[in-house]
Amino acid sequence: MCGIVGYVGGKNAQDFLISGLKRLEYRGYDSAGIVTLNAEGKATLVRAKGKISNLEEKLAQNKTSDKIGIGHTRWATHGEPSETNAHPHKAGPLYLVHNGIIENYKELKAELKDFEFKSETDSEVLAALIESFYRDGNYPLVNAVVQALKLVKGTYGIAVISELQPEEIVVARSGSPLVIGVGHDETLIASDASALVGHTKRAIYLNDGEVAVVTAKSIEVKTLNAEPVSAKVEEIETNLAAIQKGGYEHFLLKEIMEQPNTLTETLRGRVNAEQGTVHLGGPGLTEAELRKIQHLVIVGCGTAYHAGLLASYYIEQFVPEITIETVIASEYRYRNAYIPDNSVALIVSQSGETADTLACLREIKKQGVRTVGIVNAIGSTISREVDGGTYVHVGPEISVASTKAFTSQVIAMVIFGLTIAQAKGVRSTMLRPYISEIAKLPEEIAKVLSEAEEQVKAITKKYHELEHAIYLGRDTAYPTAMEGALKLKEISYIDANAYAFGELKHGPLALVDDKYFEIALLPVGELYDKAVSNLQEVLARGGKVIAVTNNDKFDLPVENVVKITTELEIFAPILMNIVLQLFAYYITVAKGLNVDQPRNLAKSVTVE
Ligand code: AGP
Ligand code: GLU
Repeated sequence: MCGIVGYVGGKNAQDFLISGLKRLEYRGYDSAGIVTLNAEGKATLVRAKGKISNLEEKLAQNKTSDKIGIGHTRWATHGEPSETNAHPHKAGPLYLVHNGIIENYKELKAELKDFEFKSETDSEVLAALIESFYRDGNYPLVNAVVQALKLVKGTYGIAVISELQPEEIVVARSGSPLVIGVGHDETLIASDASALVGHTKRAIYLNDGEVAVVTAKSIEVKTLNAEPVSAKVEEIETNLAAIQKGGYEHFLLKEIMEQPNTLTETLRGRVNAEQGTVHLGGPGLTEAELRKIQHLVIVGCGTAYHAGLLASYYIEQFVPEITIETVIASEYRYRNAYIPDNSVALIVSQSGETADTLACLREIKKQGVRTVGIVNAIGSTISREVDGGTYVHVGPEISVASTKAFTSQVIAMVIFGLTIAQAKGVRSTMLRPYISEIAKLPEEIAKVLSEAEEQVKAITKKYHELEHAIYLGRDTAYPTAMEGALKLKEISYIDANAYAFGELKHGPLALVDDKYFEIALLPVGELYDKAVSNLQEVLARGGKVIAVTNNDKFDLPVENVVKITTELEIFAPILMNIVLQLFAYYITVAKGLNVDQPRNLAKSVTVE
């Protein structure tokens, strides 16, 4: 969480810092701050509660031409969002920005008796701790930083500058991402490469346990034990268009609309519909290893967890003798779960930085289980720590609500399942329908987007004032309902929950009244009639139902229907999910809320 930026070079530091923070605002937006130093070390510190735009207004009165500085956009963990708790934090001549949590901050604070703390944050304790070593004459700054970090428990990505050394920035990471942009006579710092796009194409991704001293002309990376690291300079693939709204009012709508293209990128080179085969290079498993797989553990949080759940329903349909367990990372990592031999763990994450998922990956690796990443962000921590993996290649996803990543994660995992099935010798007649539907999916998504948008817009006007929603589905439409409900609640703040249709009568049916509306997913297929019977039970109790179906003959007396026309049957729930994404979007617009940055949330959750 949170965004960190830094600049040292020949240009105006404030300009880069503010534009970088705007790019990273999706990571946290409780408060923001910037500090710059002039050549003599005089500091200009500006902080503001709320959005970056508030900081920008204050900055207009505090313009400098300083050439070095650091900045931060916060997602509060310790202490309310306020100007005092905003970063950078000052300790003597030092300024620090921090992403993560210092778990032992109370113990450390108790030791720092002569420091006058101003904020309630854990981060200020780290600033004070570094300063306590710096004050003791522990120059250069990096020595003090290293001494302090050796005492710290928790996670951090930090950048520190000193009034006494106004030509360098010290950065370090453990558990929170940090990227160093290599420019011409300038060096840039960011917690996410998107802030660097347009400034440089070359970047060094810091690893856990590494610290770096950067100046305009040099970058020196070391471990905390002072061993030099020969850091690899990598190319940043993202381009400017990918991180701009491209004419859309919100990133969310852009990302929903992009899905025909982003899914095409996921499929590129991996699906051969004519031959009825799939091919995945990244996981790095041989045919013999694939044949042996008997158990899959799929790990994720939020939408990534739902993607795993939906994929597991599909994979079970065509891989014989396999058990699949889809788990929530923050739970699984503390369970004493037994993972049988011949297991592979799929680690699903858009950002590749989610702390819970990362910790779970590390636990699973300790057990000697082979791990495969289903990741979007190239070069992210999870993508580097898994044994092998498949990038979903959907480009930067900026809106906090995940949409295009979900669709591609599900399909990437299904393709992984198909490679297992191929290796196990499953008859191609069994697999062909899946492969041919996958190949058609991008086009079918495009059709649904144009067909459903107006239908959805028309009905959202009616429902945005209700406070509760129930999403219902059976089989593959059930994880789809879960994802739909998450999307609605996280951006519109409507209390939305999903239930398996068959579970209704075991409790949730009692909820149905005029404060609720129900969204019923009714894909044509084996369980269609059973789902319709369950729906009748809701209608008989006065439910205000919106049905989403691909049955053109659907004629039940519901309040509203969104009909989609598609030749797909297996993956119709994926198309229905696109409808649910649009629904959440337009309800939120109708409520006048902040679509891309819902309250209390952040895009990339790098704290536990
Ligand atoms: C989804 O809309 C979310 N905001 C959230 O649940 C997200 O999917 C989750 O935090 C996992 O993120 P990741 O894919 O980057 O690991
Ligand atoms: N723990 C720190 C705070 O609450 C940093 C949070 C962040 O990553 O934004 O200020």
